[in-house]
Amino acid sequence: MFLPGLAVHSLLLYASGASALSAPTDKQWAKLSQAVGGRLYTSLPLASSCFSTVNGQPSTPNATECALVQQGYTQPDFRFDNYSAHMMPQWETCQTSLQRCLLNSDNPSDPAAWEDHECWQGAIAPRYIDVRTTNDILEALKFVKKTGIQFSIKASGHDYKGRSSFGSLSLWTKNLNSLSYSATFKPEGGHETYSAVTTGAGVPTEDIYEFADQNNVTILGGYASTIVEAGGWAQAGGHSILSPVYGLGIDRVLQYKIVTFDGVVRTANKYQNSDLFWALRGGGGSTFGVVLEATFLAEPRMSLRVASISFTQTADNARGFLEILVNNSYKWGQEGWGGHMGPASLINVNPLLTLEEANASVQPAVEYALAQGGKAVVEDLPSWQAFFTKYVPSAQASVGVQTILGSRLIPTDPFFTDEDGQEALVDLMSKMISTYAVNPYIIQGTPFLYNYTNGSTSATPAWRNSLWQIGFHENMAYNATLETMFSQYEIVNNITAWMRELAPDSGAYFNEANPYEPDHEVTFWGENYPTLLQLKNKYDPDRLMDCWMCIGWKGAADERYSCYLNISSNF
Ligand SMILES: Cc1cc2nc3c(=O)[nH]c(=O)nc-3n(C[C@H](O)[C@H](O)[C@H](O)COP(=O)(O)OP(=O)(O)OC[C@H]3O[C@@H](n4cnc5c(N)ncnc54)[C@H](O)[C@@H]3O)c2cc1C
Ligand SMILES: *[C@@H]1O[C@H](CO)[C@@H](O)[C@H](O)[C@H]1NC(C)=O
Ligand SMILES: *[C@@H]1O[C@H](CO)[C@@H](O)[C@H](O)[C@H]1NC(C)=O
Ligand SMILES: *[C@@H]1O[C@H](CO)[C@@H](O)[C@H](O)[C@H]1NC(C)=O
Ligand SMILES: *[C@@H]1O[C@H](CO)[C@@H](O)[C@H](O)[C@H]1NC(C)=O
Ligand SMILES: *[C@@H]1O[C@H](CO)[C@@H](O)[C@H](O)[C@H]1NC(C)=O
Ligand SMILES: *[C@@H]1O[C@H](CO)[C@@H](O)[C@H](O)[C@H]1NC(C)=O
Ligand SMILES: *[C@@H]1O[C@H](CO)[C@@H](O)[C@H](O)[C@H]1NC(C)=O
Ligand SMILES: *[C@@H]1O[C@H](CO)[C@@H](O)[C@H](O)[C@H]1NC(C)=O
Ligand SMILES: *[C@@H]1O[C@H](CO)[C@@H](O)[C@H](O)[C@H]1NC(C)=O
Ligand SMILES: *[C@@H]1O[C@H](CO)[C@@H](O)[C@H](O)[C@H]1NC(C)=O
Repeated sequence: MFLPGLAVHSLLLYASGASALSAPTDKQWAKLSQAVGGRLYTSLPLASSCFSTVNGQPSTPNATECALVQQGYTQPDFRFDNYSAHMMPQWETCQTSLQRCLLNSDNPSDPAAWEDHECWQGAIAPRYIDVRTTNDILEALKFVKKTGIQFSIKASGHDYKGRSSFGSLSLWTKNLNSLSYSATFKPEGGHETYSAVTTGAGVPTEDIYEFADQNNVTILGGYASTIVEAGGWAQAGGHSILSPVYGLGIDRVLQYKIVTFDGVVRTANKYQNSDLFWALRGGGGSTFGVVLEATFLAEPRMSLRVASISFTQTADNARGFLEILVNNSYKWGQEGWGGHMGPASLINVNPLLTLEEANASVQPAVEYALAQGGKAVVEDLPSWQAFFTKYVPSAQASVGVQTILGSRLIPTDPFFTDEDGQEALVDLMSKMISTYAVNPYIIQGTPFLYNYTNGSTSATPAWRNSLWQIGFHENMAYNATLETMFSQYEIVNNITAWMRELAPDSGAYFNEANPYEPDHEVTFWGENYPTLLQLKNKYDPDRLMDCWMCIGWKGAADERYSCYLNISSNF
C-alpha cells in the first residue's frame, strides 16, 4: 500500500506503488546507493528541526537550525537549496490527512506552529538521489522498473500542482548545473548555427540571466529568481514578459538532451527525435523522461523601456484602472509591450519603442495612477539583467505560502477588439474582486507579435490567439482546516468557471492553471492531445511515471493521489 502521509521516521520502511512487485529491500536500496555514487539520501521536512515530534517519534528540536529555517522560510533561494522544500508548501504535505510540517508563513517565528502541531513527512519523498550524471538517471530508472515504486522528479519545486512531489524516491536535478554559451551553436544533425545558451536541468533563472548578461546576450525566462528553465518551465510553455515579441520558452528551445523513461539517452531537436522534440515543447515536465539539459536561442543584449506604475487600491478605483488596461492592451500588444498588471499596478517592458514613444503610450495609466495619489516611473534600462535585478526580486509571486492558482488564456478577439468584449472582461475581473476579494493577476506574456510556425509546439494553440493570461492566487493558512481548504479550492473552481464561461473555446497554461481544471486534456493541449498520448506511450512504454493531469494521467482515484483533496464537483 502506498500511504504518502504515514510515519517514516527511520525512512527504511517506505512501501511502494500499486504496480509494485514488492517493496524494495534495504539491500536493494543499498545497491542503488552504490550505483549512484552514494548520492541516495533520506529526507526530513524542511522545518523538522523546530518540532518535538517528527513522523510520530519524539525528536529533539535544534534551535539554531530552526532559526535558519524561519529566516529563509519565504525566500526562494533558501527553498531552492533544500530538497525537502517546495515553493508552495502544500506540496510538502498530505492535504487529505493534514499530515504536515509547516511554519506560519505570515510570521515564521510564530511558536504556535511547532508547539501546537506535530511534524509529518507528508508529500516529501522519503528518499532522493542528488542527480549529477546521466548514469544516476539510468540507474534510477532501472531501479524503478524493477521494483515498481512510484517516483518523482524535482528541479526547483515551483510546481503549482504537486507534480514534483510524492513517491518513494525522487530525482533531484538541482546539481545538473552546467551553463555554456555558443555564438555558433549547431543542433546535432543540422548545419545552421545559432547564438544560444545551453543550461543543465538544475539551473535557476537568476543564474541563467546573469550568465547570459556576462556573455552579452539575452535569454528569456520566468518572472521569478529560481524557476528551472530546462525543467517544468520550458517543457510546458514558459512565458516571459518578453514573449510578446520573442516567443514562449517552447518557441525558443533548439535542443533537449534527455533520458527517456524507456531508459535511452536521446538528443531531441528538429533533426533527431523530432517527434519527441515537439512533445517536449509543450507536453509538460515529468512526462517523457528526465531532461538533462536544454539549449535556448539567445537574443542580443537589448535595452528596455520600463513602466512601473502603482497606487493604493480601493473599492472605488480598481475598475477604472482595469478599464484602462483592457482598452489599451491591444495597442500595447502591437507596440511590443509585455508585463504583469493588476487592479492598481503594472510593471511593463518594451524592447521596440523609444523612451519618448513608450512614455506617451502608457500615459493613460500614468495619469490615472497619479490622480489616485500613486506613483509612476517610465525609464530606460540597458539590459534584461538590469531590469530583472531592479524590479523582479521584490515583485515576484510569494513563496513559502500555500497558494492555489487558477488562470485562463484570454483571446484577443473579442476581449480587446470589441466594446462588448472589453466590458465583459472588465466585469469578470471586477466580480472576482467584489465577490471574493481576489485580485486578477494579469500577464501580458503571450506570443502576440511572434511569428509562430503553426504546429511547431504542442501546448494549447490558444496561446497563439490570446493577448493575456488572467490568473489569481488564493492563499491557505499554514494551519487551515480541511473545511477551509475545501472552500478555498471551491473559490478557485468558481472563479475559473466564470473564466471558462467567458472564453469557452480558449485554454489554460498547464503550469499555472486551477489544479482541479475539468476537461484538462482539451484545456491544456487542445487538438495536440491524441498525438501527445501516442508519444507518451512510445517513450514511456511501461508507464514508469504518472503525474497529476499530465499526458496519460491515470486519474485522481489512483493511489498516488491519495493526498490530493477530492474536490469532486469537477470529476
Ligand atoms: C513564484 C513563481 C513564479 C512563476 N513565474 C512564472 C513565469 O513567469 N512564467 C512561467 O511560464 N511560469 C512561471 N511559473 C510557473 C513555473 O513555470 C512552473 O511552476 C514550472 O513547472 C516550474 O518548473 P521547475 O522545473 O522549476 O519546477 P519543479 O516543481 O521542480 O518541476 C515542475 C515539473 O517539471 C518536472 N521536471 C522538473 N525537472 C525536470 C527534468 N529535468 N526532466 C523532466 N521533468 C522535470 C517536475 O517533475 C514537475 O512535473 C512560476 C511559478 C512560481 C511558483
Ligand atoms: C544544530 O544545527 C546546527 C546548524 O545546522 C548544526 O551546526 C548543529 O550541529 C546542530 N546541533 C545538533 C545538536 O545537532
Ligand atoms: C534541508 O533541510 C533539512 C531539515 O532541516 C535538513 O535535514 C537537510 O540537511 C537540508 N538539506 C539540504 C540539501 O540542504
Ligand atoms: C554587446 O551586444 C550589443 C548588442 O548586440 C553590441 O552592440 C555590443 O557591442 C556588445 N558589447 C560587447 C562588449 O561585446
Ligand atoms: C513622460 O511624459 C510626461 C507627460 O508628458 C512628462 O511629464 C515626463 O517627463 C515624461 N517622462 C519621460 C521619462 O520622458
Ligand atoms: C474603455 O472603453 C469603453 C468602450 O469600449 C468605454 O466605455 C470606457 O469609457 C473606456 N474606459 C476608459 C477608462 O478608457
Ligand atoms: C513577422 O513577420 C512579418 C511578416 O513576414 C514581418 O514583417 C515581421 O517583421 C516579423 N516579426 C518579427 C518579430 O520577426
Ligand atoms: C494549424 O494547423 C492545424 C493542423 O495541424 C489546423 O487545424 C489549424 O487550422 C492551423 N491553424 C492555422 C492558424 O493555420
Ligand atoms: C492558526 O494559527 C494562527 C496563528 O498561529 C492562530 O491564530 C489561529 O487560531 C490558528 N487557526 C486554527 C484553525 O487553528
Ligand atoms: C461557488 O459557487 C456556487 C454556485 O454559485 C455557490 O453555491 C458556492 O457557495 C460557491 N462557493 C464558494 C466557496 O463561494
Ligand atoms: C472523489 O469522489 C468521487 C465521487 O464521490 C469519486 O468518483 C472519485 O473517484 C473520488 N476521487 C478521488 C480522487 O478519490
